[in-house]
Amino acid sequence: MEKDIKYLRRCAQLAMLGDGRVRDNPRVGSVLVHQDRIIGEGYHRIAGQGHAEVNCLASVRPEDRLLIPESTLYISLEPCCITGRSGACTDKIRREGIKTVVFAQRDPTPGVAGESVRILQRADITVREYPDFADTKLPNAHRHTLVTLQRPYVVLKFASSSDGFIRPADRKAAYWITHPLSRRLVHRWRANTSAILVGGRTVVEDNPSLNTRLFSGPTPQPVIVDLRNRCTGKEKLFAGSGQQPLVFTSRARPELAAEVVVLDKDLNQEALTQVLGKLMAQRVGEVTVEGGAALLNAFITTGLWDEARVFTGTARFGSGVIAPHLPADATLVEKKAVGTDRLEVFKNMAPVPGTSR
Ligand SMILES: NC(=O)c1ccc[n+]([C@@H]2O[C@H](COP(=O)([O-])OP(=O)(O)OC[C@H]3O[C@@H](n4cnc5c(N)ncnc54)[C@H](OP(=O)(O)O)[C@@H]3O)[C@@H](O)[C@H]2O)c1
Repeated sequence: MEKDIKYLRRCAQLAMLGDGRVRDNPRVGSVLVHQDRIIGEGYHRIAGQGHAEVNCLASVRPEDRLLIPESTLYISLEPCCITGRSGACTDKIRREGIKTVVFAQRDPTPGVAGESVRILQRADITVREYPDFADTKLPNAHRHTLVTLQRPYVVLKFASSSDGFIRPADRKAAYWITHPLSRRLVHRWRANTSAILVGGRTVVEDNPSLNTRLFSGPTPQPVIVDLRNRCTGKEKLFAGSGQQPLVFTSRARPELAAEVVVLDKDLNQEALTQVLGKLMAQRVGEVTVEGGAALLNAFITTGLWDEARVFTGTARFGSGVIAPHLPADATLVEKKAVGTDRLEVFKNMAPVPGTSR
């Protein structure tokens, strides 16, 4: 129905407002509609707090509350039926007396997929589903990866000079690869990711803050992969002004103001699987790997990535650290100009044996 799609599109817009604070939960938006008038809207903001449907119902004005049972509840994702950190949404829907529920995709979470539909139908609630509606798939790419691959969604991000270097040979000279608009966009992306991974050498040489100072939103957890123990502890990330970093090293480092996990020395598939396993245990849904080349190349060669966002600036360096090369089967899904830069977004569609990807 045309009207259903109109309101599901609004649900998708609301879902996209969810940032890194949703952690490994889905990003979901919801609207309540009475006779073609929206009387409530909400989205899931923070893991462990109100789901989209709950926030939507809470937003209904007192004078409209009588209309709730005669209204249609639209949700970007199948409502939950398990009592996790907050109550089951199917119970809330029944208690409010809502008689029609429309959603896009089923929730892939084991124990939910399809079960909520059965619960609602047993309570004589009409349910309409739109599994192919694309707009609501985008905010939940991380959920698909978590369920099918048992690891967080991995985004690679880097910037290259026009001649293919991520930094010039002379690193003492001040340089910027990207346009200010791209830098602001990166801070917006940061607010939407739960963790940022960087290599030990990047922390020592660039001394980054990895915060969201150019965009309003939460700063993600900084994670440093430093198997050659390069960090000294004097870098900005250890200064205590932001979140405590999580650092993977190859020997105990009690002097670092950080949570330290000791791994073997090699930056290989086993090490990266352990890094992602630790983040998954901490309920991280999406991580962004921001460099440098060694760390990005390790994720690329092991195939442990889902999306890559690559900026190419206008400067030429002539020599320096060579930018990572994505495999030939990486699928280009978007290409556009940001300021004077080119931004290309790739997806890793390579099948993973034993899974549905
Ligand atoms: N343009 C961009 O988007 C961008 C983004 C981030 C960083 N950068 C630049 O990238 C540079 C750093 O990149 P990078 O590639 O040198 O380092 P990196 O990726 O930041 O750090 C990787 C760390 O892993 C270590 N390592 C490398 N191979 C290993 C292996 N097989 N086993 C265990 N450990 C291993 C490296 O050791 P070593 O210390 O011995 O090398 C290094 O400490 C910085 O200068 C920064 O400016 C550019």
